[in-house]
Amino acid sequence: MLNGKRIVLGVTGGIAAYKAATLCSKLVQKGADVHVIMTSSATQFITELTLQTLTRNPVYTDTFDEREPAVVSHIHLADLADLVLVAPATANVIAKMAHGMADDMLTTTLLATTAPVMVAPAMNVHMYDHPAVKQNMNVLVERGTLMIEPGEGLLACGYVGKGRLEEPETIVDVVERFFTQRNAASMQRAGQGWTNVQTQTQGQELLLKGKKVVVTAGGTVERIDPVRYITNDSSGKMGFAIAAAARDLGAEVKLVMGNTQAQPPEQVEVIPVQSAQEMYEAVSSEWNDADIVIKAAAVADYRPKEVYTEKIKKKGDTLSLELVKNIDILETLGKRKTHQYLIGFAAETQSLEMHAREKLERKNCDLIVANDVTRSGAGFGTDTNAVHIYDRDGLVEELELMSKQDVAHRLLRIAAERIAGRN
Ligand code: CTP
Repeated sequence: MLNGKRIVLGVTGGIAAYKAATLCSKLVQKGADVHVIMTSSATQFITELTLQTLTRNPVYTDTFDEREPAVVSHIHLADLADLVLVAPATANVIAKMAHGMADDMLTTTLLATTAPVMVAPAMNVHMYDHPAVKQNMNVLVERGTLMIEPGEGLLACGYVGKGRLEEPETIVDVVERFFTQRNAASMQRAGQGWTNVQTQTQGQELLLKGKKVVVTAGGTVERIDPVRYITNDSSGKMGFAIAAAARDLGAEVKLVMGNTQAQPPEQVEVIPVQSAQEMYEAVSSEWNDADIVIKAAAVADYRPKEVYTEKIKKKGDTLSLELVKNIDILETLGKRKTHQYLIGFAAETQSLEMHAREKLERKNCDLIVANDVTRSGAGFGTDTNAVHIYDRDGLVEELELMSKQDVAHRLLRIAAERIAGRN
């Protein structure tokens, strides 16, 4: 959830600069307002026009190219940033940052900003291992700069080893996590506990350390014939946010994933399924070991009675499909519950509390997360949600419209506190 976040992206001159285009595009897609500063070497690898077109903002390369008389550009960019991200960061810019040099637009902005700074290095494996580079990076880390460690693999220079710019998807994931965790835990800016974002859980309590969490997400797919199926509008985003939050709180996470267009979070085990029956079997096989099971998936209540092995041919003016009831996974699990903490969801269009609490009782859940899917920003497919969380005694918490990540963190904190209390 990067809606409205102002990110100043510094692009420096290595071959990985071409990846800045994907990075810009993904940040913008997530709602971020991206302002690019390129070093002159970076312009040898990728054009300003590319990044300007992707971000819809002017791209800066020259400290003295003042386009707006009302502001001093590098101070303006330094001040507006919620985060300054340098990706890719060459050994050269890391050295300049470590020594406080300010000889171009990017380095002057970096000195002038009070925003958190995140650096994603990219260079040759021997450069990355060089004591000078290591020392410079240590200086930055000690100062509170957030490092996104490079990946290992075949480098553009032909060597295999560490130094490859982390994939843009992962960088975006790290940036999102940074903002989410900062919101959730009211964290302070870099320098006060946010040193290495690769250690994603650093800076927050590992409330779910040692716990096994199973999350279901997305919609189920009920086949009609080889080319047709019944599904629903679930985007999977709420379940993904819960899986990511559980991971960040130290849990071992299994994500049972139905139909979705969204990208599942990194570093959680994904078990892809299609039908309600497959989802039931996947969750059942994880059930005994699970400490918390969260059923955020939108499971089809009915499936076609017959699944045709050949494509159904067009015949008369009407076609009737007979549907039969699917297993209610949550209700079945509720009957089997021993030590597991069971959380269900209730998507409602009317009488939210009544229906949600009835489902909680009937399905023997510990908590139920109810959302009014008619409310703007809280239905299927959105990045935000507004929910009421109930237990057997009634309302536990009402969460106003907020990012699904924030809802996920809040929900898991409640679950973690209750499990700790129970023990
Ligand atoms: N659920 C399930 N298996 C089903 C149907 C629903 O596990 N066959 C789970 C959902 O994952 C969710 C909860 O039950 O956690 C409530 O789902 P919802 O669709 O709101 O309720 P239903 O029980 O299907 O009732 P209705 O459609 O009548 O509102």
